[in-house]
Amino acid sequence: MPPSPCRALRRDDYLPLEPTDCRHHVLAYLNGQYLPRSAASIPVEDRGFVFGDGVYEVWRVVNGRLFETARHLARLSHGLSELRISEPDLVRRDVLDEVANRLLSESGLLEGEATLYVEVTRGVAPRTHQFPPAGTKPTVFAMVNRFVPPNDLRARGASAITTPDVRWLRCDIKTIQLLPNVMAKQAAAERGATEAIMIRDGVVTEGSHANVFGVLDGEIRTHPLGNLILPGITRTIVLELANALSIPIREDAFTEPDIGRLDECFLAGTTTDVMPIVRVNDRPIGRGTPGPIATRLFTEFRAHLDASCAAMPASP
Ligand code: PDD
Repeated sequence: MPPSPCRALRRDDYLPLEPTDCRHHVLAYLNGQYLPRSAASIPVEDRGFVFGDGVYEVWRVVNGRLFETARHLARLSHGLSELRISEPDLVRRDVLDEVANRLLSESGLLEGEATLYVEVTRGVAPRTHQFPPAGTKPTVFAMVNRFVPPNDLRARGASAITTPDVRWLRCDIKTIQLLPNVMAKQAAAERGATEAIMIRDGVVTEGSHANVFGVLDGEIRTHPLGNLILPGITRTIVLELANALSIPIREDAFTEPDIGRLDECFLAGTTTDVMPIVRVNDRPIGRGTPGPIATRLFTEFRAHLDASCAAMPASP
C-alpha cells in the first residue's frame, strides 16, 4: 500500500463542512490509491460523469466502526449486479474494512461520528450508450466525512413538502443518478422545509434521501419494498425495532390525502436516523410536535446504533 502523502488530519480539518483551504488534506481512496481529496480526479470520460452510470452507498460510522456493513454491501452488490457492473474488490468486507479504517484513522475520525461514502461507476471509456468493452475497469471511490447528527432539528421536529415522484422505475437501485432527488430537496429548501416527500400515483413513496413512515389508526405505515423505493437499511432496522416493541406495522403505502389524518410522520435514513416530521405543506401533523412513536423509535435506534458499533472488534 503506498504511503499516504497526507499528514495526519485533525478533526478541525472537517469543520466547517464547506471546502476550506484545508481541503487538500482530506484523504480519499480512488482505484486502489490513497490521496488528498483535492488531488483525486476522474477522467472526463468516466461513465459516472457522462451518464450517471454507477452506484453508491453511505455508511454511518461511530467511533471508527461501520454500522450494518453486511446489509450495505449486499445492497451495493445488488445494484452492481442489476446494472451488470463487475464487482470490485472493495465490495469484499475485508477490503472495505481496511480502506475505511485507513481513511478514518488518517482523517482523525476514529472517534466520534462520521460517514463513509463509496461510489462505483462502470469506468472510463469513449462515450457510447452501450456498455464499454469487456474488461473496462470500474472506477472505485471512497471518502469519509465528519458527521454531526441533526439533534436540534430532531427535538423540534422537521417540516416537509410533497412533490411528485418523477423518478424511474428502479428506485431499488442506489444509483448515482439523483437529479429528481436533488430537485425535490431543493424545492423543499426553497420553501423552508427539511425534506420532500415524494408522491407517485397518489401514494407516498419516500423522501429525497430517507424513507417515510406514518402513524395512522394506531399502525406504523410505510411503502412496501419493491421497485418504487430504496430498501433503506435504517427502514429495516426501524421495522425490526417497532416489531420488538410490539407496535403494529403495515408495510402498505399511505396516500397523499392520508397525510392530513396522520398522528405522526417520520423519516428514517443513514444521515437522518429517525426524524419526526411535524409539518407537511405548512399543515401540522398530529399536534405539530414530535410524536411518541417516532421519539421512542429514535431512542431505540440510537441505542442500537451505539451498541452494535461498540460490539464490533476494532479494525485491523
Ligand atoms: N440516502 N431513500 C433514498 C432515496 C435514499 O437516498 C436513502 C439514503 C434512503 C435511506 O436509506 P438508508 O437507511 O440505507 O440510508 C432512502 C443516503 C444516505 C444519501 O443519499 O446520502
